[in-house]
Amino acid sequence: MKKIVVANWKMNGDVDLVKRFNQADFPTSVNTIICPPSYYIPLLHSQRFELGAQNCSKFITGAYTGESSPQHLKNLGCSYVIVGHSERRSLFNEFNGFINKKAIAATACGLKPIICIGESLIEREENRTEKVLLSQLDTVTANLKNQSYIIAYEPVWSIGTGLLPTNKDIADVAQLIRNRIGEAAAVIYGGSVSSENAETLANITALNGVLVGGASLNLQSFQQIINAFQGD
Ligand code: PGA
Repeated sequence: MKKIVVANWKMNGDVDLVKRFNQADFPTSVNTIICPPSYYIPLLHSQRFELGAQNCSKFITGAYTGESSPQHLKNLGCSYVIVGHSERRSLFNEFNGFINKKAIAATACGLKPIICIGESLIEREENRTEKVLLSQLDTVTANLKNQSYIIAYEPVWSIGTGLLPTNKDIADVAQLIRNRIGEAAAVIYGGSVSSENAETLANITALNGVLVGGASLNLQSFQQIINAFQGD
């Protein structure tokens, strides 16, 4: 399996960044997935990366003002959609059952969901990480048995903070996830991934790749991260 490097631009970026990504030379030996704000999706096109959305509706069509249909995202050229990001959970009250419905709607439309799970700092400090992750995992992946999806392990305390778990902690979580949902599961890590720590993260054999927030807004840094995952 090719390593996966996902860019999550969040609500950042502009047309100039879109142009620079369109012209950039990313290695095809890595599965690079760009998730811009949804209005930039139609402007991004390259043979060198695939497209993903940052969120989608649990509904496919109908009277749902302000929602983004997974079918429409697919029609715009997306192959992936991030669901259950911790910012959606904490700022927009999304919970596991709701995230599961979005993942099901996404797969019904031919999108591969990138489903985020992760423990908070307090849950970690209280030694509840494993329990919390398994409980999230069970609910968000319900009824997705024969579907293809990616699990992004994103500890909430690591997002945008510069703090990372140890390689061993990440490898243990990847194994925990595989033990639960199957050895073939694709597991990526997200949270403060940078050009400085990409090599170290690329050494975690249990990991299929990374999800990059802030550092994906700088083309040069992002290319360095991809290069670290190119392998030999
Ligand atoms: P970060 O964000 O790389 O800026 O920590 C990761 C994420 O939120 O997915």
